[in-house]
Amino acid sequence: MAAQDRAPSAPSIVDVTRPSAARIYDWYLDGVHNYAIDREFGERVVRLWPHVKGVARQNRDFLRRLVVNALDAGVRQFLDLGSGVPTVGNVHEIVRDHLPAGERAAVVYVDYEHVAAAHARVLLEEDGATGWAGVVQADLRDPMAVFGHETSRALLDRGQPICVMLIAVLHFVGGADNVPNLLADYARRLAPGSWLGLSHIASDEADPADQAAVEAFRKAYDNTSNPLWVRDRAEISGWFAGLDGWRLVDPGVAHLIDWRPDRPVTPADRALRPFAWCGAAEKLG
Ligand SMILES: C[S@@+](CC[C@H](N)C(=O)[O-])C[C@H]1O[C@@H](n2cnc3c(N)ncnc32)[C@H](O)[C@@H]1O
Repeated sequence: MAAQDRAPSAPSIVDVTRPSAARIYDWYLDGVHNYAIDREFGERVVRLWPHVKGVARQNRDFLRRLVVNALDAGVRQFLDLGSGVPTVGNVHEIVRDHLPAGERAAVVYVDYEHVAAAHARVLLEEDGATGWAGVVQADLRDPMAVFGHETSRALLDRGQPICVMLIAVLHFVGGADNVPNLLADYARRLAPGSWLGLSHIASDEADPADQAAVEAFRKAYDNTSNPLWVRDRAEISGWFAGLDGWRLVDPGVAHLIDWRPDRPVTPADRALRPFAWCGAAEKLG
């Protein structure tokens, strides 16, 4: 159990007195949008759980495959909740690279952390993508605020399918924040053909030493702006099963490397297998 009942709201200014999940994750991915406090935290947790950087990279690769598969299924709108500090292979870049010629798409990034939102805005400006991609600085636990934001309203057509992405973020939602209710709230606002994809840190299939390492990692986050919850396959499968009128797409709830892989799995990949679950569901007509 995490010490907190509920993850706190994001501070209204950049808080450099406590490490933040967005900036720590940027550090895991060898990014540069982080502060000394985030790097010190990162170095400490890597000593507790050395696999964390590898899992972060596998997670980004899952994100890419999720976007490509949703595009292949005909989805053209993406709502990336808890999008993080932009790094290599952001959603709008994947969409731009894979969208069939002549077709239009929309991407909305949502993060409540200033550094993440500010850098995403700069990147979209630099990429000349502001006509079809935008940033909403909001708390994803408030779907009405997310969908009601002027950027979402301008870019997203709720009458058409949207791929809602919750990648490596629901482990920052727990306690009094009820994840199944939150997912149901998003799900009911979406048109048939929409997708909902997520990934989540886990250790239920890890050996006892690795489970203890993940638990030490989880506890370290109690001292950040983002306390963390670790969940098992049964709980995450239950979230999908609770979505009325949705079906899990193949291969169901899986480890990151087993979800529609598009390259051979290496021994290094296999060592990271137990540390996350992921999956995607589609809304039926
Ligand atoms: C581990 S990063 C994941 C980034 C990206 N989704 C990925 O998988 O590569 C988690 C992100 O979720 C954001 N986040 C956490 N809780 C949030 C909330 N309640 N509302 C909006 N963003 C949130 C953090 O600020 C951070 O940028």
